[in-house]
Amino acid sequence: MNGNKTKPKIVVLTGAGISAESGLKTFRDNDGLWENHRVEDVATPEAFEQNPSLVYRFYNARRAQLQEDVVKPNAAHIALAKLEKALGERLMLVTQNVDDLHERGGSSSVYHMHGELLSARCAISQQSFHWRDSFDHTTKCPCCSRVTLRPDIVWFGEMPMYMDEIYNALSQSDVFIAIGTSGNVYPAAGFVQIAKECGAHTIEANLAPGATNALFDESLTGPASHIVPQWVDEIISKYAL
Ligand code: OAD
Repeated sequence: MNGNKTKPKIVVLTGAGISAESGLKTFRDNDGLWENHRVEDVATPEAFEQNPSLVYRFYNARRAQLQEDVVKPNAAHIALAKLEKALGERLMLVTQNVDDLHERGGSSSVYHMHGELLSARCAISQQSFHWRDSFDHTTKCPCCSRVTLRPDIVWFGEMPMYMDEIYNALSQSDVFIAIGTSGNVYPAAGFVQIAKECGAHTIEANLAPGATNALFDESLTGPASHIVPQWVDEIISKYAL
């Protein structure tokens, strides 16, 4: 841990819990997305091959919901944008979330390791396109004019994005904080171990302890909209940022 007043290097990992108070369902809580859908049916390459209509429908519905008026960034997203302003490039914000609430909360650099809902990807060229509307197996791809568009989501069995950049930042971090994630999905659930081995102070911020809670040095318990702004203010005052 950085003992002096130089700016610390911080890696923040967020999960569905940070967006729960913004009106988006988490995955594994009661009435979460995985209670109403089998992961295998909507979040795997095999599902997309066998029943693409269902997979398109699932992500089209979530993309539409994300754009409803009631869905807005909450105080936790906004606080992390404030931390970015204070730390600049010494902060890396990694999210497992496919929503755009960090960006709407004011963060300009967000590593979406599991992809993005407001994006469509050409399955052939792997090029991504900003996409707000519904699309399906009849929608022509802007790069090749063929019907090759898939949701720009990392499905189970696929490699998450930005792993080199993330491991590099974790290995240099002074502080690692995981916010609103249950710690069930790897590789993200393993970030705490890497950060800890490289000397970072590790914090879990969650409504209830997650699966990897024992690995963290410190736990902040409560709704993200309360505990995250408080933690950000503490960091800003501790390091006189
Ligand atoms: P989960 O649904 O597994 O976990 C959500 C976590 O948020 C739980 O630990 C809750 O206790 C916590 N939580 C709920 N409300 C909260 C609040 N108001 N404030 C703070 N914490 C709260 O979601 P993730 O851990 O993000 O991947 O799931 C990881 C990945 O699994 C997702 O990115 C997704 C999913 O399958 C893919 O689809 C590839």
